[in-house]
Amino acid sequence: MAAIIDGKAVSAKLRQEMKGEVAALQAKGIAPGLAVVLVGEDPASQVYVRNKIRACEELGIRSQDHRLPADTTQERLLELIGELNNDPAVHGILVQLPLPKQISDQAVIAAIDPKKDVDAFHPQNVGKIVQGNYDFLPCTPAGVMALLRSTGVPVAGKECVVIGRSNIVGKPMALLMLHEHATVTICHSRTRDLAEVCRRADILIVAIGKARFVTAGMVKEGAVVIDVGMDRDENGKLCGDVDFAGVEPKAGYITPVPGGVGPMTITMLMQNTITAARLAGGAV
Ligand code: GUN
Repeated sequence: MAAIIDGKAVSAKLRQEMKGEVAALQAKGIAPGLAVVLVGEDPASQVYVRNKIRACEELGIRSQDHRLPADTTQERLLELIGELNNDPAVHGILVQLPLPKQISDQAVIAAIDPKKDVDAFHPQNVGKIVQGNYDFLPCTPAGVMALLRSTGVPVAGKECVVIGRSNIVGKPMALLMLHEHATVTICHSRTRDLAEVCRRADILIVAIGKARFVTAGMVKEGAVVIDVGMDRDENGKLCGDVDFAGVEPKAGYITPVPGGVGPMTITMLMQNTITAARLAGGAV
């Protein structure tokens, strides 16, 4: 029987601490501010954006909610980003991905002032993460690291397998585990003998977006299993990339979906916004 890693509880504790950080900045005349930009009407993105704005309200962070129609041109979006880059009340800019197909994600990410890049997706920030010298960490991998810390399980020297190689999760996740001295393997759709590779993992981090893809046969007895997935099963029910019911009896620790990684991602976004405000205010 695995211990359940409670993302809601870890999140609530961190957010409580952050309220103090926001109040301390406000006392110095700095009111942290986040601008969230959503292009189009993707229902999942709308939920994520709403939750981000709510988290700002909970912590006393000022938020701006920018909604643009699905047919927005790249030029118009870049113009908005230029305005937000120049707005001193905005410390963090988050453009919700994916963007409609007429807009290049990379062009938009590159246009955000790296000091306001609270997603840590800008090439300059990615480079700093690779070198291990950064101001911001991407929110989901940072949230996973905080969950791992909450278990007290040491990472150094462990076999870590990451399934998924996206720029948002898989690649930065692997780097953060490497910085913590894990032996890291990244798996993806072309990996041979995936189940066998996964069974080597002391820490298995799954970010592939396939409902209940990881089954008990792919998990080592006592492993820490972190599920980054947010999927719908054949009945439309929210579930993760891990078959929780099958894997839970075998794992040492496991994150549920919902209530695992999800709440942590937004909490780390709030942390990055506070950091951006602190750096902008000259207080380190
Ligand atoms: N879409 C899915 N995850 C993310 C994220 O972490 N940041 C942004 N901006 N968009 C996303």
